[in-house]
Amino acid sequence: MTRVSIKVDGVEYEDDVEPRTLLVHHLRERLGKVGTVVGCDTSNCGACTVLMSDADGRQRSVKSCAVLAVQANDREIITIEGLSGPDRTLHPVQRAFHQAHALQCGFCTPGMIMAAVDLLEENADPTEEEIREGLEGNLCRCTGYQNIVRAVREASAEIREIHGTAEPAPPSPLAGEDETPDSGLKRDNVPDETIPQPVP
Ligand code: FES
Ligand code: FES
Repeated sequence: MTRVSIKVDGVEYEDDVEPRTLLVHHLRERLGKVGTVVGCDTSNCGACTVLMSDADGRQRSVKSCAVLAVQANDREIITIEGLSGPDRTLHPVQRAFHQAHALQCGFCTPGMIMAAVDLLEENADPTEEEIREGLEGNLCRCTGYQNIVRAVREASAEIREIHGTAEPAPPSPLAGEDETPDSGLKRDNVPDETIPQPVP
């Protein structure tokens, strides 16, 4: 057993862990952070993504099934459960996912949101292409990604507005509207909205 001290969602935890324990299992099974989910356990799907401070204290997204709990010693972790404000106000990315209908079953959503938060830290005004590229490690089996991209664009505009840095970005087109591969189809008839799609 190894003693680890990890700050998670603002609370310091000290625990003895097996050296082989994965961070995602530590978060879920020891600390009860079940908002972080396991989709594959093999670092492919991104469902387990959380933010973890690096050596410089900067929060970066990591797949917590690819990190040992001991590697998080003396680091700070933020999970989906710690993303909202102290008064439970949703983070702009959470709000945008809700408003833009960027989820269906919701299984990918915690990881997708955490990855999007990191993406927007890196790039405050990403293009649709940059969002797709930035989230390519996070898989969604339900949505076809279109509304996820739209949500991230809307969140980026809101965050930039809050920080007063730039003009809000124009909304990303909805599936079935102009400039999408489904252009001309009614939303109800857009096949990509309901079948698994890899990020192009
Ligand atoms: Fe970690 Fe799938 S559970 S990447
Ligand atoms: Fe179901 Fe993404 S909403 S996997």
